[in-house]
Amino acid sequence: MKGDLLYEGKAKKVFLVEGDSQALILSYKNDATAFNGKKKANFIGKGKYNNLITAKIFDYLHRKGIKTHFQKSLNDTEQLVTKTTIIPVEVVVRNVAAGSITKRLGIKEKTVFSPPLVELFYKNDDLSDPLINEEHARILTNVDPFEIEQIKEAARAINDLLLAFFQSVNLQLADFKLEFGKDAKGNLLLADEISPDTCRLWDMETGEKMDKDVFREDIGDLIETYDAILQRLEAVK
Ligand code: C5P
Repeated sequence: MKGDLLYEGKAKKVFLVEGDSQALILSYKNDATAFNGKKKANFIGKGKYNNLITAKIFDYLHRKGIKTHFQKSLNDTEQLVTKTTIIPVEVVVRNVAAGSITKRLGIKEKTVFSPPLVELFYKNDDLSDPLINEEHARILTNVDPFEIEQIKEAARAINDLLLAFFQSVNLQLADFKLEFGKDAKGNLLLADEISPDTCRLWDMETGEKMDKDVFREDIGDLIETYDAILQRLEAVK
């Protein structure tokens, strides 16, 4: 079933599927990178956690009516997804200030954004994923202004759903990143992953950081942290 390697990214490998040109297999790696690849490490088990956590979250979003590329988990580290052409824009939704926005604009960490802030970044390693506006997105991606607005609306709706989902397991969703793609028929689908690699999650009681910031800031054990997230999510029916 698994075909040739199509692409290898920092956190995942993408394989073709023999006999199904409209599907791909995502294989989650144990590699961790931060600060646009300047900091690197490998954690045995990380691929499994991000695969299983992403599957759980995409399954929840699907049940809530969000159109995603996720089809099913195949094993601990691999999942079957619908093939899409990824729009090279990273959509970041921020409920609370953390990370790059605190440095870029001098906004104090934990400042609440109400309504949540949606930012666009151009997905380009050579340029270190710069912040862009809607007009830049239109020029860089050939995506029309209506679709960019649709993507931002989808990101806001997904944020509302994820806020409730994580709150039910005592986690505050500070911010997260989404990617969207188009399938063969031109349908816009939520793609890529949603995991502690792509979200900032804070324990609602202790404020403890329970995401990739433990690696970025060297403040904890990544595998123990991701295991704790999976355990909390597994309790959600
Ligand atoms: O780095 P920054 O503070 O802008 O990140 C905002 C959110 O987007 C964080 O949850 C981070 O994990 C996620 N992100 C990501 N991939 C990137 C950049 C940011 O998952 N390339």
